[in-house]
Amino acid sequence: MGESRRDFLRKIAIAGAGAAMVANPFGQAFAAGGNKKVRIAVIGTGGRGRLLLEHLLIIIKEGGNCEISAICDNYQPSLDMAVKLCVKYKSKVNTFSDYRKLLKDNVPDGVVIATPLHQHAHITIDSMNAGIHVLVEKSMARTLDDVKAMYDVHKQTGSVLMVGHQRLFSKRYLNAMDRIHKGELGEIGQVRAYWHRNKNWRRKVPKDKPELERQINWRLYKEYSAGLLTELMSHQLQVANWALEQVPVSVTGTGSIRYWNDGREVNDNIAAIFSYADGTQFIYDSMTSNKKYGCEEQIMGHKATMELETNKLILEKPPKPKPAPGIAQLISDIKKDTFQSIPVGGASWAPETALKYNGEPIYNSQKGDGTKEELLGFVDCIRQGKNIDWVTAEGYNTSIWSLLTEQAIDTGQKLTMPEKYII
Ligand SMILES: NC(=O)c1ccc[n+]([C@@H]2O[C@H](COP(=O)([O-])OP(=O)(O)OC[C@H]3O[C@@H](n4cnc5c(N)ncnc54)[C@H](O)[C@@H]3O)[C@@H](O)[C@H]2O)c1
Repeated sequence: MGESRRDFLRKIAIAGAGAAMVANPFGQAFAAGGNKKVRIAVIGTGGRGRLLLEHLLIIIKEGGNCEISAICDNYQPSLDMAVKLCVKYKSKVNTFSDYRKLLKDNVPDGVVIATPLHQHAHITIDSMNAGIHVLVEKSMARTLDDVKAMYDVHKQTGSVLMVGHQRLFSKRYLNAMDRIHKGELGEIGQVRAYWHRNKNWRRKVPKDKPELERQINWRLYKEYSAGLLTELMSHQLQVANWALEQVPVSVTGTGSIRYWNDGREVNDNIAAIFSYADGTQFIYDSMTSNKKYGCEEQIMGHKATMELETNKLILEKPPKPKPAPGIAQLISDIKKDTFQSIPVGGASWAPETALKYNGEPIYNSQKGDGTKEELLGFVDCIRQGKNIDWVTAEGYNTSIWSLLTEQAIDTGQKLTMPEKYII
């Protein structure tokens, strides 16, 4: 029922051969066509939920054979903004404030869940128990037991379970991983990644409703979120595991509230080191009071480095630069001994500053970050009643290790994965 990593990559690669011809870079691999109109509901129409909804509306507009069966949010302003979006795309939509009522009365084929982290597990489990397929945003859940429970119910019910790691569906990342796994970078010694920002990460709370602070700024409170670990690091840990084709064996870390002393409970800067069985490390840091280095994943082999966010392949032995035309002429003239003296001014050549070697692009035809392809993939999985098991496992392992990192930071211990969470 599942599909192996190699099969998946091969299918994407084959579809990619004709990619320039079609708007969807995955060609037939993920096309929302087919006979059955797949009915999708979006639960949680905040920032991310509306972005996912808009991608779906575009897919429908482009002729994808799916429809938005309903949208749901328990905060009226979020629901209103999502309705506006549907109106913009001339799509009629059913609205719900209670997801249980949506599951019962609307019975979609699949739900896209983009609620805050602590609201993922029960909605996912209730949906799968109702026979509905799920694409849930990363990370999977707030607790290790909830992550495992979601996975177990997925296995019991056979419902598709995808976790919102859109890089898994990005043409650039797929191309890069194929090349990494074929050995183009050589032996990978380390993966390094970081995500640095210089902002407080706060959302505006209506002045007349200060009681909404924790609900709106859920990312900043430990009851609802593990902060930078589940929100940002999870994406990059998934990339590291994917590149290395392994999950870590241990993690250690540190973190603090160093700068934004504004009542938040989650760390505003963190650092973690993951070890893998073959001796490789993944070294990670994230801070929110300096953005100079931005966001990057660096896969470092003995032959080359790939910097995936900025699309660069940097060889350890850079290709020798071709001499500039003027220099080439000078060399040729010297060889032919045609100079009496070196001309000064008015010459047909000019010395050029040596170019700093910045590498070359990994892949140039990527539009977007993979989110649209992720949704196309979800619709296709539903239509075919087929889960992509390794994609589910990537989301699962990343979620578990992100939460273990939180424990490692909080306790100052080096942690391994408890047996009961191994799948
Ligand atoms: N994949 C990515 O790149 C990416 C990017 C941003 C956010 N996310 C993820 O998306 C999720 C949502 O993040 P966000 O930034 O949109 O948050 P948000 O706070 O903007 O939106 C969450 C929405 O869920 C609603 N909600 C809460 N509980 C609900 C419930 N029981 N039923 C229905 N609606 C409910 C809230 O009212 C709110 O409108 C998080 O898990 C986050 O990690 C993923």
